[in-house]
Amino acid sequence: MKTVKKVPLPEKPMNNIRQKASFKKTILIALGFLASFVVLISVVSFIFAEIQVPRFVNRDLVIQNKLIVLPLLEPEVVGEEKVFLLSAEQGETILLDGKPTNTVGYNGSYLGPTLRAHKGDHVRIVLTNNLSKPVTAHWHGMHLPAIMDGGPHQEIAPGEIWEPHWTIENEAATLWYHPHVLEQTGVEVYSGLAGLFIIDDENSDSLSLPKVYGVDDVPLIVQDREFREDGQFVFAPQRKDELGHTGMLGDVILVNGTYAPFVDVPAKQIRLRILNASNARRYNFGFEDRRTFYQIATDGGLLPSPVARTRMILAPGERAEVIVDLTGETEPLTLISDAVHEENEVLRFVRTMINAERDENQVFKIIELRPQPTAEVIETLPQLLNSIEPLPSTSAVRTRRFILDPRNRSINGKRMDHQYVNEVVHSGDVEIWEIINLSGTFHPFHIHGVQFQILDRGGKPPADYELGWKDTVLVSNAEIVHVIMRFPEFSDPHTPYMYHCHILEHEDMGMMGQFIVTNDKILDTEIYVEAPDIRIESSHNHAP
Ligand code: C2O
Ligand code: CU
Ligand code: CU
Repeated sequence: MKTVKKVPLPEKPMNNIRQKASFKKTILIALGFLASFVVLISVVSFIFAEIQVPRFVNRDLVIQNKLIVLPLLEPEVVGEEKVFLLSAEQGETILLDGKPTNTVGYNGSYLGPTLRAHKGDHVRIVLTNNLSKPVTAHWHGMHLPAIMDGGPHQEIAPGEIWEPHWTIENEAATLWYHPHVLEQTGVEVYSGLAGLFIIDDENSDSLSLPKVYGVDDVPLIVQDREFREDGQFVFAPQRKDELGHTGMLGDVILVNGTYAPFVDVPAKQIRLRILNASNARRYNFGFEDRRTFYQIATDGGLLPSPVARTRMILAPGERAEVIVDLTGETEPLTLISDAVHEENEVLRFVRTMINAERDENQVFKIIELRPQPTAEVIETLPQLLNSIEPLPSTSAVRTRRFILDPRNRSINGKRMDHQYVNEVVHSGDVEIWEIINLSGTFHPFHIHGVQFQILDRGGKPPADYELGWKDTVLVSNAEIVHVIMRFPEFSDPHTPYMYHCHILEHEDMGMMGQFIVTNDKILDTEIYVEAPDIRIESSHNHAP
C-alpha cells in the first residue's frame, strides 16, 4: 500500500495537460490541414490547367528546308539475287543551320537509303560495319529466318561484314531497318541509324495509288531530337532514372533528317509513308486545317479499304500510309502532330505527375506540303485495297500472356537475358498473344518475324484502321490487347527472335524477351539448344 503512495503517479494532471495540449494540437493540425488543402487544391488546379492546355512547341518555326528524300538504293543483280550494299558509317551532319552534329548512318552520315524489293525477290544485303562499335541491321516487320533478322544475336563487330539473304515473303508494305545491339539500340537509332525497306507486290502494282517515289509517294521518317547549343545531340540515358517512365524525348522534329522541312508536291492526291522512328515519342498526326485524309496501310501492308481520319496516333516503331488530296490547291498545308488526347484527364494528370513531363500535350509542326500546279488529273481512291483473311481465334493452338510490368521495365517479371529463351513456338502454329499493360504509361509491343492481326482491345473489336497487318501494337495503360498470328515455317532451335517494347529506352532497360520457332519436338520440360551461350526455359506463362 505504502509503496503505492511513495510512487505517485500523477496521471490525472498529466492527462489534463495532455488534453489541453492535444486540443491545441488538434486546432493546429486542422489549420495545417486546411492550409495544405488550399495549397494542394491550387497546385492541382494549376497543374490541371497546365496539362490540359496543349503546348505548340515549334509554333514559330520558320519552314525553310527542302525535305531530303532518302535515295533508293540500287541493287546489283547477281544471278538470282538482288544484292544491296550497305555500310554503317560515322560522320557529321548539318542538321540545324550551320552547326554540324556528330552522327551515324548507313551509306552516309545520317539515316540510310531506302531499300525496295518485290515479293518473291531473293535479296542479299552486304553490310559492312565501319564504326568503332558493334552494330546490327534488323529488318523490322520482315518475315525471315531468325538468323537473318539482325537482332542482338547477329552483332557485327567493327570492320566485319554480315551478309543476310532471304526471299521476300511479305506483301506490299513500308518496313524499316535499324540496329538492335543489346542495350545500345536507343543510342544507335538516336545517332542516326535507320532506314526504310519498301516492299511491292502484284496487288500494289495493280492499284491506282500514287507511287512515284519522292514525288507523289513521299517517305517521312519522323524523329524528335534534343540539341545542345553547339549543335551536338543530347542523348541522356541517365534520364532513364529521372524520367524512366518516358524515354528519350526531344523538342526538335527532324523528317528524313531535315530540320524545318517542306516538300513540293503535285497538286493532286499525295501518298505519305510515315514511320515513327523516334525513340520514345508518340505522335498524333493530322493536318493543321483538320481536313480528312485516308489511311491506306498499317505496319505490314495495305488496309482492306481506305479509312477516313482526321487524326492518327503512331507509337515508336509503327508505320502508316495515308492519302491526302491536294487537287487544285495552291496554299501550303502543314502536317502537324497534335496533343495525344486518348487518355482521360485523371490518367493524364497522374502520368504528368509521375513523369514530370507534358510530352503527350505537345504540338509540333512536322512538315509543310507545298502543292505545285500539275496537269489536271482526276483521281479516285480505289475502295478495295487488299484482301486480308481474318485469322479466327479458333485457329489458335494456344494463348500466351505477356504482362508489361510497371516495375523494372520487365515483361512477365523478367528482364531481357540474352542467354534465356522465354518462349518456344512451334513452326507454323497460329497463336494468340495476350498483352496486358499494368503500368501507368503506354508501350508499343513489337514482335519480330511475323505480322499479326489485332483481335480486340479490352474486349472491343479493333477500329477500321487497325484491320491491317501489324508488327507493333500500341498498348495503353491498363489495357489488354489480343493479337493473333501465324508463326513462320522456318525452324531454328538455336536462334531466337525478339519481342519487346519499342520505346527504345524501355527495350534497352530490359523490356524485351526471346522466342524460338522450331519444328523440333521441344517439350516444355525437356528443352535443349546447341548454342552454348543460350539457355532455354519452358513457356510457363500460358494464359488459361
Ligand atoms: Cu524495330 Cu526489335 O525492333
Ligand atoms: Cu523488329
Ligand atoms: Cu515501354
